[in-house]
Amino acid sequence: MTTAVFAGSFDPATNGHLDVVERAAAVFDRVIVAVGSTTGKQSLFSAQERVEMLREACADHKNVEVEAFEGLLVDFAERKGAAVIVKGLRCMSDFDREYQMAFHNRGLNPQIETVFLMASPPHIYLRSSVIKEIARLGGSVAQFVPAAVEKRLRERARGPA
Ligand code: PNS
Repeated sequence: MTTAVFAGSFDPATNGHLDVVERAAAVFDRVIVAVGSTTGKQSLFSAQERVEMLREACADHKNVEVEAFEGLLVDFAERKGAAVIVKGLRCMSDFDREYQMAFHNRGLNPQIETVFLMASPPHIYLRSSVIKEIARLGGSVAQFVPAAVEKRLRERARGPA
């Protein structure tokens, strides 16, 4: 049984992330979506909120779990018995950063392989930061994100009642 960890900030998750989850779930026996809770970035949603949105969006995939993690990704993967880290690659600008992370993760734990899945064409330019900007400025993001995320972004844009 091969377990893979798909890690990211997911602030918030987009349809591109969901596409990678679904494709990874078809290749690996078990996929753990790992939500980085200490990424050093200022996040719009708490780690708990990001986990909740992803759990709702992934509910139909029986071999997919969602968890927040702290500390090194390779340590989380090892604790979970994962032999693979899955990352999505969109455009060339992703490649350099992801390659560096894969290099360091391999140095830290050579037993864990990083596997890249190319983004599907409709999702190549989807970016959480742009989604947040559109939502903040009152635009509709329904076509770019799962329903659970769209709902939370709308609530967030409306502000406290
Ligand atoms: O969606 P992102 O911002 O590309 O996700 C980044 C994430 C959470 C995958 C990355 O920050 C991460 O792996 N954090 C854990 C810390 C770690 O293991 N660092 C050392 C190797 S890069």
